[in-house]
Amino acid sequence: EPLFERFFVAPKKVLLWHQSKEPLLALPKLPVPNLKDTLDRYLRCMKHLLTEEQFNKTQNIVMQFGAPGGVGELLQSKLTERSENVANWVYDYWLNDMYLNNRLALPVNSSPAMVFPQQNFMAPIDSLRFAAHLISGALEYKTHLDDRDLPVDYARGQLAGTRLCMEQYYRLFTSYRLPGPERDTLVAQESSVMPEPEHIIVACKNQFFVLDVMINFRQLNQRDLLTQLEKIVKMADNEEEQLPPIGLLTSDGRTEWAESRSVLMRESTNRDSLDMIERCLCLVCLDDASGPELSDTKRAMLMLHGGGLTKNGGNRWYDKPMQFIVGADGCCGVVCEHSAFEGIVLVQCTEYLLKCMIGSPSKLVRAASVSELPAPRRLRWKCTPEIHKLITSAADKLQRMVKNLDINVHKFHDYGKGFIKKQKMSPDAYIQLALQLGFYRCHGRPVSTYESASLRRFQQGRVDNIRSATPEAFAFVKAMTERKNKMMELLKGAITAQTSYTRLAITGMAIDNHLLGLREIAHEMKMGKLEMFKDEAYLISNQFILSTSQVPTTVEMFCCYGPVVPNGYGACYNPQSDHIIFSVSSFHESEQTCSAEFVKCLVQGLRDVRDLCNKCNADLPCANTSAQKTKYPFIKSSSYCSVLLILGLTLCLCT
Ligand code: COA
Repeated sequence: EPLFERFFVAPKKVLLWHQSKEPLLALPKLPVPNLKDTLDRYLRCMKHLLTEEQFNKTQNIVMQFGAPGGVGELLQSKLTERSENVANWVYDYWLNDMYLNNRLALPVNSSPAMVFPQQNFMAPIDSLRFAAHLISGALEYKTHLDDRDLPVDYARGQLAGTRLCMEQYYRLFTSYRLPGPERDTLVAQESSVMPEPEHIIVACKNQFFVLDVMINFRQLNQRDLLTQLEKIVKMADNEEEQLPPIGLLTSDGRTEWAESRSVLMRESTNRDSLDMIERCLCLVCLDDASGPELSDTKRAMLMLHGGGLTKNGGNRWYDKPMQFIVGADGCCGVVCEHSAFEGIVLVQCTEYLLKCMIGSPSKLVRAASVSELPAPRRLRWKCTPEIHKLITSAADKLQRMVKNLDINVHKFHDYGKGFIKKQKMSPDAYIQLALQLGFYRCHGRPVSTYESASLRRFQQGRVDNIRSATPEAFAFVKAMTERKNKMMELLKGAITAQTSYTRLAITGMAIDNHLLGLREIAHEMKMGKLEMFKDEAYLISNQFILSTSQVPTTVEMFCCYGPVVPNGYGACYNPQSDHIIFSVSSFHESEQTCSAEFVKCLVQGLRDVRDLCNKCNADLPCANTSAQKTKYPFIKSSSYCSVLLILGLTLCLCT
């Protein structure tokens, strides 16, 4: 099937909950790190990011905070008490701090996207077939979730083998982020004894349609779904029935959207429509074609913001965690509201759907349904002039965001994690160092860096931060830039430091969640804002100019997201055995950043570190270098090996 030929299916060992040989004991609780350890690590992480004067001031503040019998010890004891009474002491603090308190608009600032391989839709019906297949896969996946028979995840990579918390999966299709004037709420649908028939919302030409997936006690099959999608497209084309692009309101700042939502709620028609959207399983956005050139970079942009009002920007509902996007031009993917789950869970679910497609090409729907099905229902909106004004304002802001996003998707083909493993180094630590090197070469200074580290080894585990701008990384990038000696020693030291921090973070011993917990306990105890958290160094430590994340996939696709500060970069990477996909984002409005320039420095950094490894580990197998390629362009490695083999055999026979 040309549509799906580009997906690669890897055989996967599946272990179900009920098949697990291990007794399914509760996962351990997230530990509370030792206070002194966190404070020492905090100072160590910050020293090279501050001026001497700033650091001396911070050191005094930290010493006072951590003094015996001081405020730090009091907060620590309260935090320990809290950890005994709840499943995960940081969960609520973290969720509010990371997402629900954040007032920025969701597109680009918060919601990541997975970009699928470009599809080759020959006719309009092909995109609907693709959508029908996606929906049917999602329904199958939801059945696994309902039956609680989803395969258990086990940790891979560092400290492999431990069982992981599965909770995030159960929020994929059942949660909703409700905007609030000061803080949003992550709503989870309660399962009831008599659940209502499920539906999804299909967005098409900025209109929203209810697609019931259960009719007359029967779940729709792919043919039925295709028939219903065709009806939706026809209904959406009817210009007389067109309603304003209400979805744009969800792309606004969270406080603004909360206000617009309360205006909408004054009308019962709007209340009913909102209720249908808030209770749906997911959205499927049937997008119009977006223009001729569809590079990876362009597709990433379209996934993140839909291209604004003139394209598909209004064909979205950003509060819903799962929005599958199926573009008429083959630009497809999924954009997610992030507060409910992490990218890794999203990848697992998406890969299941995509593998379903290639796994069963014969099942691909060809013809429409034979059964008579009631037509899907268009959601109605009563729009006052006030609402029209709010939509226009949201559209303007989205347009500014579209113009502002500077994204660059780069497939680095020189080598991948296979080469790095041969150097006996952690690929993740190595890539993080390359990012540090790239940034330093671009900007001449180290900055506070965030790398997400999974905490799913613990109950309700989400993530903590690996502070990749370690002092050892700084020493290495400086030496590389200034072409000093002993670079290999410094590289090894930096890799060791990064790997150790990773291990600390994934075992719950990193500093960010701990400091957040202490801060929030102080807030709950109405202690006012403590010096420790008012200090400039603490603010700098939380300005993540580099916000990075590894999102690996086994299917050909990649993840992307925006920067978290106006003058920063979002850098997502997907390491494969022989290549690495980077998606680097920043804002054009910042004069300090440029994604293309950063990618250039990053690529140069990756090449330089490889050359350094090759030079120092001449006895280990080398990755191709440009020098090798140009010196012997006529020698293909396979024929070269064959010649060596024949020579060896001849010698053996002769002797
Ligand atoms: N020599 C040889 N091989 C090594 C090695 C070494 N010194 N160190 C590690 N490796 C191997 C590992 O065994 C692993 O092998 P595998 O591919 O067969 O599994 C591979 O290299 C990758 O390991 P590594 O690069 O060290 O990283 P990791 O897979 O342990 O990942 C994190 C590290 C921090 C990314 C991971 O623990 C994590 O937390 N991921 C979640 C990130 C996340 O949440 N992202 C989404 C945010 S929305």
